[in-house]
Amino acid sequence: MGLKILILGSGGREHSISWIISKSKREIEKIFVMPGNAGTLSEKNVFNIECDINNHQAVLNFALENNIDLTIVGPEVPLVEGISDLFEENNLNIFGPKKYFAQLEGSKVFSKNFMDSNNLPTASYKEFNDSKKAKDYLNDKKMPIVIKYDGLAAGKGVDICETIDAAKNSIDNLLKPEEKIIIEDFIKGIELSAIYICNPNANKKNIGLTWIKDYKSRDEYNSGPNTGGMGAVTHPFCAYKKNDIYSLNVEIEKILIKTIVAINNGSGSSSRYNGFMYLGLMISTHDDKPYLLEYNCRMGDPETQNILMYLDKNEVDFLDLIGFDNSQYPDNFNLSFIDNKKYSGYCCTIVLAATGYPEKLIKEFYIDLSHLEENEFVKVFHAGTQINNGSIKVTGGRILSVNTFGEDKQSAIDTAYESISKIKAYTDSDLKNEDNSLVFFRSDIGS
Ligand code: GLY
Repeated sequence: MGLKILILGSGGREHSISWIISKSKREIEKIFVMPGNAGTLSEKNVFNIECDINNHQAVLNFALENNIDLTIVGPEVPLVEGISDLFEENNLNIFGPKKYFAQLEGSKVFSKNFMDSNNLPTASYKEFNDSKKAKDYLNDKKMPIVIKYDGLAAGKGVDICETIDAAKNSIDNLLKPEEKIIIEDFIKGIELSAIYICNPNANKKNIGLTWIKDYKSRDEYNSGPNTGGMGAVTHPFCAYKKNDIYSLNVEIEKILIKTIVAINNGSGSSSRYNGFMYLGLMISTHDDKPYLLEYNCRMGDPETQNILMYLDKNEVDFLDLIGFDNSQYPDNFNLSFIDNKKYSGYCCTIVLAATGYPEKLIKEFYIDLSHLEENEFVKVFHAGTQINNGSIKVTGGRILSVNTFGEDKQSAIDTAYESISKIKAYTDSDLKNEDNSLVFFRSDIGS
């Protein structure tokens, strides 16, 4: 009998995780994705399960009844609400940190205070629960300034404000009664996502994945509202000098280790951080040093799609990587920061979104992928899609991503744009009334 794996979530991240696990060298009996999308349905041995992943008892019952060997949690909400605690209490294997640790993502106030008390590099900040005091604080501050909602907000809880008026507006929008916001200084620089696999039981406890740059704003050149992410590229610092990259890596690993040691010590129990640790960083143009913008206790979306394409092309088995079954990885295994001989190539990810995303509700329409040829260098990961009458119906703002692998960065980018432009949108499920104004993508991914 092969393994049974359960993946929680319905986005491109979860599609790519199910895809890479379906290619594992281990014998895989079934991969369940809860609830999944039109893309997960098309992968080998992958089955979609209709179930609300925020109903933890229902997820647990499914895992117990189906003898699930491993559950991987895609999005943050179940982690912040303690699904890993429940699974562990029931002796089930789950990859994702417990509730205490997930506060690093679940509360901006918790995470900023944690960074501050552990001397981790981050922007100066202050927390507020009073709108007048928050607005008064702006009078002495330089613009732009960053306003952050304390809790989870699916990518909509952070505003970068260019003027005092915009910042006051943001305070009015983000500060709810009985809740808190953070106001923090803006750091100018280059954003970088450094994601680690942290498994306290593995022989190598922290494995750095390829560095990646996420394109968060909706429109070109960092304009428009913040989104979950509109694209990604590997090796964002490939044009830098090698020595600079190595010293940057040392600084980032120091941040990781300090974080893991401090959060483990702070837990007041024998529990250890177990799961993905996503360091959202700004490499400051002022001093070239990394500053923490945020922690996520999961992999990013669309970063995961990009990273897993890269791992697959480099023949890395994802289950080995997360230390499943105490699998052993060589001590020198490190994919994190540099384009090197052993792990080579570049990946580009471009998200196709529904016009109106992220602000407006998306009206019903369909897409046709038949003109886009997928092959070992081009892979589509679905997000907001379902199969309806044999056609692909759009069900969410981010519809899918096109992911490409190239020997050099520009060829990965060119192939991604060539491929995504072949996708067509229709108002009807018979695909008769073409209307490509229903979809959009950013034209500057990789720049
Ligand atoms: N792409 C950003 C995130 O997943 O948080």
